[in-house]
Amino acid sequence: MMKERIQELLAQVNEMQAQSADELEALRIKYLSKKGEITSLFSEFRNVAADEKKDLGQQLNMLKNTAQQKIEELRAQFEAAKELQDKQDLTRTPDPVVLGSRHPLSLIREEIIDIFSRIGFTVEEGPEVEDDKHVFGMLNFAPEHPARDMQDTFFIEKQEGVQSPDDILLRTHTSSVQTRVMTTQKPPIRVLCPGRVYRNEAISARAHCFFHQVEGLYIDKNVSFADLRQTLLYFAKEMFGPDTKIRLRPSYFPFTEPSAEMDISCNICGGVGCSFCKGTGWVEILGCGMVDPNVLESCGIDSKEYTGYAFGLGVERITNLKYRVKDLRLFSENDVRFLSQFESC
Ligand code: PHE
Repeated sequence: MMKERIQELLAQVNEMQAQSADELEALRIKYLSKKGEITSLFSEFRNVAADEKKDLGQQLNMLKNTAQQKIEELRAQFEAAKELQDKQDLTRTPDPVVLGSRHPLSLIREEIIDIFSRIGFTVEEGPEVEDDKHVFGMLNFAPEHPARDMQDTFFIEKQEGVQSPDDILLRTHTSSVQTRVMTTQKPPIRVLCPGRVYRNEAISARAHCFFHQVEGLYIDKNVSFADLRQTLLYFAKEMFGPDTKIRLRPSYFPFTEPSAEMDISCNICGGVGCSFCKGTGWVEILGCGMVDPNVLESCGIDSKEYTGYAFGLGVERITNLKYRVKDLRLFSENDVRFLSQFESC
């Protein structure tokens, strides 16, 4: 009888678990206190037959020791956990958060937008998949203009043989956003149109089939070429430093008349001549001009009342000048060794 009871209690003791100090104390009371189950077996032991005493006595002692040990073990566990909790320093600053970096093109795009927004330009965006009308037609491109050729532009839907205003293509410049703004807003208009553009070119260190532009448009009464020049001079100095000089060279774009290309004094060699500026001391950074009256009229703006200027610059080009990135492909390859060199905010 007593033998079985000892076995039973031993099994229970070995299984003992406690979730709190109170539960542990309850176990101690259940088994080892004065009225505990193990203690009462010791009182019964007095009545055991003499020949069984030795064997049962050993087992009973073993049971008591096991129970005491097990309770001590559980107590030690609680105390260790409590000590750990007491040692926690809740005033410690958390581990520093590792910030990612921002893409160099995003950094420069934001900087360009910031500079122009200080003089009143607001941002407008438009679709990358466009129709011929908004990319070429309303911008005074002749029907036979080479940009309307598959070799220069990615078409998505193109009518065989003829050129149609409804042909669907990937925009080749963000001037398409300007046509959308001019047809939906009334002057004065002063907008910046940043975005990705696509051209059908072989990919190399110096050319890619997509790149990024920020174009600007200002339309109001009495806007002059002098206004354009002064705005671009302000931009060049803000972007490349107060000593930067600009020069405008006559050029041609279907949508501006007169048109110009703007160079800045090479910010790498300071204008003395280096490999980046091919020894000239100047680097081209944007195209610009006075909005052609045909464009204003095709967008429903009275060209006798209003004039305007437009300019368009390549974000990659400005980024190369700022950060001296030699290979355009680096911008789209997602190589973290390149990207992590740029700041995070
Ligand atoms: N749209 C022209 C281009 O993509 C840039 C430009 C914009 C030129 C506005 C003049 C005026 O090259």
